[in-house]
Amino acid sequence: MTRTAPPSTDDLTATDTVNSPARGGEWWRDAVIYQVYPRSFADGDGDGIGDLPGVTARLDHLEQLGVDAVWLSPFYRSPQKDAGYDVADYRDIDPLFGTLADFDEMLAAAHERGLKVIVDLVPNHSSDQHVWFQEALAAAPGSAARARYVFRDGRGPAGDEPPNNWQSIFGGPAWTRLAPREDDGPLGPQWYLHLFDSSQPDLDWDNPEVRAEFEDVLRFWLDRGVDGFRVDVAHGMVKAPGLPDWDGTTSMVEGTVAEDGSTGAGNSGPMFDQEGVHDIYRAWHRVLAEYDGDRALVAEAWVEPLSRLARYVRPDEMHQAFNFSFLTTPWDAATLRTVVDVSLRTMDAVGAPTTWVLSNHDVVRHASRFGLPEIGGRQLNGIGADDPQPDAALGLRRARAATLLMLGLPGSAYVYQGEELGLPDHTALPAEVRQDPSFFRTDGAEPGRDGCRVPLPWVGGAPGNGFGPTGKTWLPQPEAYAELAADRQYGVEGSTFELYRTALGLRRAEKIGTSTLAWVDSLASDPDVVAFQVAGVVVLANLGGTPVPLPADAQVLVASGDLVDGALPADTTVWLRA
Ligand code: NOJ
Repeated sequence: MTRTAPPSTDDLTATDTVNSPARGGEWWRDAVIYQVYPRSFADGDGDGIGDLPGVTARLDHLEQLGVDAVWLSPFYRSPQKDAGYDVADYRDIDPLFGTLADFDEMLAAAHERGLKVIVDLVPNHSSDQHVWFQEALAAAPGSAARARYVFRDGRGPAGDEPPNNWQSIFGGPAWTRLAPREDDGPLGPQWYLHLFDSSQPDLDWDNPEVRAEFEDVLRFWLDRGVDGFRVDVAHGMVKAPGLPDWDGTTSMVEGTVAEDGSTGAGNSGPMFDQEGVHDIYRAWHRVLAEYDGDRALVAEAWVEPLSRLARYVRPDEMHQAFNFSFLTTPWDAATLRTVVDVSLRTMDAVGAPTTWVLSNHDVVRHASRFGLPEIGGRQLNGIGADDPQPDAALGLRRARAATLLMLGLPGSAYVYQGEELGLPDHTALPAEVRQDPSFFRTDGAEPGRDGCRVPLPWVGGAPGNGFGPTGKTWLPQPEAYAELAADRQYGVEGSTFELYRTALGLRRAEKIGTSTLAWVDSLASDPDVVAFQVAGVVVLANLGGTPVPLPADAQVLVASGDLVDGALPADTTVWLRA
């Protein structure tokens, strides 16, 4: 059964306009930014781990796709306890990924293609192998070396209880006690804070030396020519004075849905979203402003509601913040409309572009997420072999529809490597190959994030599906990756790669990123339909089970799936000429 036919496109009523204006015209306001997760993008040297020469060799793929910029997850010197988010030297490349010369070559090659490059900055914590932490371990309690991190005496008469009750986001206590030393005080060895793994000690951002060091690190990469920074745990660097106990949970994603645009993606507690973080970003804003070009700071801040998140992108602070409320929105029309609307209005109020993102290296890919009976909760962080498995076909269908909806929105959008191929997670990785610390710190209760980090397939059916010259891959690829390999999709009508390419081309040509959104109520009488107009394009998404007829004279620009008898089937998005 189809529903009543809507009016012709001439009769569309655009109501309730919301804006995400172009303002200063900086590149990041409407950019589509592609996340490269270096260890899983492309392997140049055959060790089974992706590297910078691998990225350089595959830049054609990004140029063909039509993105504007690349954000690279960390490639710095690191013992890789948290896949590089544990940095031992902020000014050097880990030999796994290459050399500084390889970085410069990659940067120049990207710039030649007109691609901007953003690198990842990890300021909340360093690796325990960082020279500062090694110095802190060697130094006495109360020393300047210890003052760069958050060391405290323990509680209890013998100091053998942690300084407070905080839990690590990866599971287990957020404090680790040092080995005894002769010069320990009466309460014995001190403890250090780590919001993540014990190999990732938190830096003390009340210490001016820490602030000066990171401004210098910013300059190091700005001098090399990077176009910006994605700032890790941007909401966590400053903790509430006195480090008070807290009984809430600090899991990465809760997955519940509220009505005000919050979807449960916000971390809370005395370790997050403290007023003091904003001073840091004001200072960094000034550093970036010293450089030519439009350099950008992007906040990875799991903060809700969106009005709190908007405070990170006020005019003198950062430039963008990831929209995790959008990422964690379930496949539900009413919730999506609310989140999109509130996102645009809230960011517009501070003059910042809204961002959109559906996948990254920390969550189950949207092609798998949307194939689960229930989206949210623990499963956003990983799916294990014993968990209910996603419906792959449904997941891909919804993922394509969700992407086409996202790319029709004004502002800036993030694409995670491999989503342009419609890749699912590996949802049945055996315990022996898992590497995410959250798997180990929860004794396997959390499967962890390895499933979304599997090496990309470039050549279907080749060893390792062409990930590198030897066929080695640091995580096994699921069977489905052969069919989904890039070479099987290039130039193939209807492939996910071609869908992304077409949508990105239209997005650019129609100036969608810098235009105004208007909800088109006349097309959305059905509660399962989301309909809006941006520039010369009407975006219509059917999230329900019943086909929705298109206006008789509709000119289809691109669709995420085949139309059936002129109607938009379930879980499909279409762009129409307005
Ligand atoms: C967020 C990063 O995206 C994640 O991968 C990492 O584990 C944590 N921050 C800690 O750095």
